[in-house]
Amino acid sequence: MSPHPHDQLVSRKAGPLVGSMPIPGDKSISHRSLIFGSLAIGPTKVRGLLEGADVMSTKDALVALGAGIERDAGGVWHITGVGLHGMISPITPLNLGNSGTGARLLMGVVAGQNITATFCGDASLSVRPMARITDPLAKMGAEITCRDGGLLPVTIKGATNLMALSHRSKVASAQIKSAILLAGLNARGTTNITEPQASRDHSESMLRHFGASVQQHIDADGAHHVTLAGEATLRAADIIVPSDPSSAAFAIVAALITPQSDITLVGIGMNPLRTGLLTTLIEMGGDIVKSNDRIEGGEAVADLRIRHSQLKGITVPAERAASMIDEFPILSVAAATANGTTEMLGVAELRVKETDRIKVMADGLAACGVTVDYDDDSMRVSTSTITGGATLSAQHDHRIAMSFLTLGLVAEHPITVTGCATIETSFPGFASGMNQLGASIIDGTAT
Ligand code: S3P
Repeated sequence: MSPHPHDQLVSRKAGPLVGSMPIPGDKSISHRSLIFGSLAIGPTKVRGLLEGADVMSTKDALVALGAGIERDAGGVWHITGVGLHGMISPITPLNLGNSGTGARLLMGVVAGQNITATFCGDASLSVRPMARITDPLAKMGAEITCRDGGLLPVTIKGATNLMALSHRSKVASAQIKSAILLAGLNARGTTNITEPQASRDHSESMLRHFGASVQQHIDADGAHHVTLAGEATLRAADIIVPSDPSSAAFAIVAALITPQSDITLVGIGMNPLRTGLLTTLIEMGGDIVKSNDRIEGGEAVADLRIRHSQLKGITVPAERAASMIDEFPILSVAAATANGTTEMLGVAELRVKETDRIKVMADGLAACGVTVDYDDDSMRVSTSTITGGATLSAQHDHRIAMSFLTLGLVAEHPITVTGCATIETSFPGFASGMNQLGASIIDGTAT
């Protein structure tokens, strides 16, 4: 993690972006590698782990639950798993900070063990909906109390004799699916989950990697069905974490919209359930060339070359939303430079992320001169003169902070973003990496 992340940053027009920058490990896979490693029997080694604040919150919580997790001098993480029955009740509440993934997946873990734990988090996490997780876990037999409205703090008294559940989720959410799967590992019977579209399937892949029996298929309507055999045992297995496509997204869009740019990003995760932004940007006319396709640690990865392109507005279909759910803030920045209007459909879930991403992006874009409108489930951004010159708050949301800073690279006047320390949750070294490519993102308190 960077020693002193600046909380206020200023981003302005600079030269073209050229060369390469390191993209940190995938956040979703990093959380899961620590969690599944802790639930396995024996030692697991993890290479390429994202050492951002969110993943470290999950690490601290797992240590409090009894797992052994240590980093060696070479940056490899060593997990001593305690098995599916070996966790202990933590003495103090588990504070998951800003991390929805950490909180929700660990709720599934605690539900399936003979332990009790209380979950809390920061101001953003404390207003995010938890009933979507706690309701199915309660149906499986966990005893759960939470604050009114299904909010943190949540206390879960788990049990090792949970009943398997058949759950049909209203939303495509990997967090809901993964929490139920984690609880289902210890349940009696087969757990079935159906989601309206497939959400990222890193849990399914990792469960198989650790020896569990998981099946998944997509039916003719596009619904995704996942089945897990209960009363499982996980065997320790080493993991290589690919670079996070959701973090690469900021450099990709920055290069596409900054004239004369030409960058290369190496080893980016290409799981097809995460590549909706690439599909969209290519449809918009983005010059993105993929090469060196390979499998690393069970996940598809590739290198990407991205060159400046005049983009055109398109309609992004609702069925694609799950495969780019974290990329809409940065897509809305790309859309502000595209000819015509870009329409994003089926994006209601953005309202319950680290902040209400539809409203916060729309307000920030409008403050910088961009034409934007939205309703509950869709957003439209039209080609605009990006005046910039505004001071915008990140609202405890790393992806909002990085999106506004990327907007500053093409605005007529610099954009100041407050609350940038939150970038540490997913992308330590973001500003320095972007500056290495040629951007100008500097400490705003020093100006
Ligand atoms: C994640 C799932 C998504 C995503 C989040 C990471 C995961 O959330 O937005 O950043 O690792 O499972 P939802 O499951 O709420 O869609």
